[in-house]
Amino acid sequence: MGICWSYPPNKDPTPTGTVTPAGISHSQTTSGSYGISTPTTASTTTTFNSVSTISSGSGTGSSSNISSSISRSNFSSVSDYSIGGQILPTSNLRIFTFAELKAATKNFKPDTLLGEGGFGKVYKGWLDSKNSSGTAVAVKKLNSEGYQGLEEWQSEINFLGRLYHPNLVKLLGYCYEETELLLVYEYMQKGSLEHHLFGRGASVQPLPWDLRLKIAIGAAAGLSFLHTSDREIIYRDFKASNILLDGSYNAKISDFGLAKLGPSASQSHLSTTVMGTPGYAAPEYMQTGHLYVKSDVYGFGVVLVEILSGQRAIDTNRPTGYHSLTDWVKPFLHDKRKLKKIMDPHLGDKYPSKAAFPIAKLASKCLAPEPKMRPSMKDVLEILQGIQASTNKNVEVRGDH
Ligand SMILES: Nc1ncnc2c1ncn2[C@@H]1O[C@H](COP(=O)(O)OP(=O)(O)OP(=O)(O)O)[C@@H](O)[C@H]1O
Ligand SMILES: [Mg+2]
Repeated sequence: MGICWSYPPNKDPTPTGTVTPAGISHSQTTSGSYGISTPTTASTTTTFNSVSTISSGSGTGSSSNISSSISRSNFSSVSDYSIGGQILPTSNLRIFTFAELKAATKNFKPDTLLGEGGFGKVYKGWLDSKNSSGTAVAVKKLNSEGYQGLEEWQSEINFLGRLYHPNLVKLLGYCYEETELLLVYEYMQKGSLEHHLFGRGASVQPLPWDLRLKIAIGAAAGLSFLHTSDREIIYRDFKASNILLDGSYNAKISDFGLAKLGPSASQSHLSTTVMGTPGYAAPEYMQTGHLYVKSDVYGFGVVLVEILSGQRAIDTNRPTGYHSLTDWVKPFLHDKRKLKKIMDPHLGDKYPSKAAFPIAKLASKCLAPEPKMRPSMKDVLEILQGIQASTNKNVEVRGDH
């Protein structure tokens, strides 16, 4: 879950020196009316009513309290069907015992480790089976020191437990026992987009063009669903590591620990602590703490450039002045010849420049400094789908001759 830095707005927005090493901290927001992440103080332990329940250390007996807190509606609408998705009035999640998840992951055996993020370690597990033939799941286990990840854990349950869309990762259930907080997801066979774009080793094959486009479209559909739902949902942590891929490279967005219900279109949330991931966060959010749905569009633009260029949003191995991709890449996105210079060398010439160029221009629009100047995710999705359709048509036409 992606909290990589935090700092009060209106101060130096440079993340350097303000990185939270454990990757988890808490924001105080003014979004009190939305019922999600609404701490009354900046304290990390007073975010939810349920925090005091947990802090009392009453063990498994507290699960019912936390469950009622989880099931309290945070969405104003009863349900919403939008672009193939659905928001349920209450979550329908399975509550796992710690023993079940211990058994599923062979006691969190190191060789079941899938990765590690700010929240904790992620293990592969098998449900309802004594051998490895049960349903594969990913089990995310909070770093056990303290309760710092509680807010994110609960936000994940409140959001993802009720959101259904083919491009959002499915949360299957959770576990809260003693000091253990865990989340159980559908297992995503191909891991993260980050791994495929930037991973090293013989097992990592360069992503071909058509899959890059498919992934971009899937991720855009997921974000578009969130933004166009009855109450806009601002995702807030869009980045390559939070785009997971199933066995057919269908993209699914994961990690709703930082998500917020949106204000009306012209307004923004104001966070007193800005949280997100350097390199992906929109400038207005970094500088003022104001958060819009269009702040997500900026993050999407960064990922689009990563997909085109194979360059990380932030890479301190690049020369000085080039660490942050968005700082130097923009002029390359408006010129077909310049664009060639930054395209991922792993693609070679196996990409249609007729498709790459409009995508680069689209990325540039997403990266506009002013949120108002950025396209909506619905528009972004339609443009990408149009580019895909015309690429396929060209291939068909070429095949006919
Ligand atoms: N449902 C899943 N199926 C398969 N692998 C997963 C799943 N969820 C997470 N992973 C793996 O675990 C890794 C760590 O995920 P996690 O979300 O904890 O951290 P992150 O996305 O890298 O960083 P952050 O904490 O900033 O979100 C991912 O990169 C991915 O490889
Ligand atoms: Mg993640």
